Amino acid sequence: MPVKTIEWANHSARIIDQTRLPTEIVYLNIETVEQMGEAIKMLRIRGAPAIGIAAAFGAYLSIRNFPSAQPKARFFDALNAAIEYLKSTRPTAVNLFWALDRMQTSAQSVQNEEIETIKRHLLEQALAILEEDRAICRQLAFAGADLIKDGSTILTHCNAGGLATSEWGTAVGVIYAAVEQGKNIRVFADETRPLLQGARLTTWELMESGIDVTLICDNMAAFVMQQQRIDCIIVGADRIARNGDTANKIGTYNLAVLAEKHKLPFYIAAPVSTFDLTLTSGEKIPIEERDPREITEGFGTRTAPENVKVYNPAFDVTPNSLIHAFITEKGVIKPPFESNFQKFFK
Ligand code: MRU
Repeated sequence: MPVKTIEWANHSARIIDQTRLPTEIVYLNIETVEQMGEAIKMLRIRGAPAIGIAAAFGAYLSIRNFPSAQPKARFFDALNAAIEYLKSTRPTAVNLFWALDRMQTSAQSVQNEEIETIKRHLLEQALAILEEDRAICRQLAFAGADLIKDGSTILTHCNAGGLATSEWGTAVGVIYAAVEQGKNIRVFADETRPLLQGARLTTWELMESGIDVTLICDNMAAFVMQQQRIDCIIVGADRIARNGDTANKIGTYNLAVLAEKHKLPFYIAAPVSTFDLTLTSGEKIPIEERDPREITEGFGTRTAPENVKVYNPAFDVTPNSLIHAFITEKGVIKPPFESNFQKFFK
């Protein structure tokens, strides 16, 4: 990976501002929970695992200056309020909720300690979430690389790369691992309307890593598949229900339908923290709707009439029947998903 997506440095969370890529490399030092909430909402940091890590640091930042002479109940009130605020920033990626629940449980496990000890414990927990993500992405990447034949061309959507995690990414991590295994791999990256994570981020990080990547508009995927230029599709995920229905960036479902038509394998790469086994199916996954201006005047150029009605869901749900396998750090999970998830995750 060409850059560090998020790290803890000089007493603050240092992130690369992804809204400025690929034209500028700008780092932000996040020092308050409000700054972290804003960064997550505005997609300065984005991608399911990365926002989980960011939220964990946000929770720590919310209490790090809490006066130790104050009653402990107030400390926990402040922490819990910050966690609720961070949970309200983006609804779909379950990694955000997973990381914040882990921070809350971790604080509760040392609730009888001094306030300063609880603070230290929370920082250690956020750092552990970051470090674990690095290891998880690598394990996942090499588990997935075994599915990829030498000479393959892979289509991916949005950015499920290093910029969406601590380091290697999920779907793009599989590509990095396949290349590291010595395979000759080419990538087609969907532009990913409306915020262009594919065009701005995936192509940038692959080019920086010296990997052969070709950018296409989202509406070109069918034609490219019909021309037999694609061998498989690999994407990331924001939340996977118990039956395998999967929420990911809007446009993922289109690709899954097209993959079936063209008899191409369609893989989801995601860490265990992206599985939400409390939800029976994809219908229950909350789908974020974003500002209409992302469609009508994204990147500062008006492209639709003033006051036009707009629907802007940020994610869609791919039915389990269109998914060939899930690539996780624990290995590759094939259908039947519901029963195999139980075996993998017990
Ligand atoms: O809105 P974004 O950019 O946060 O959406 C990101 C995605 O949909 C990714 O594919 C997903 O989070 C997986 S990241 C490894």
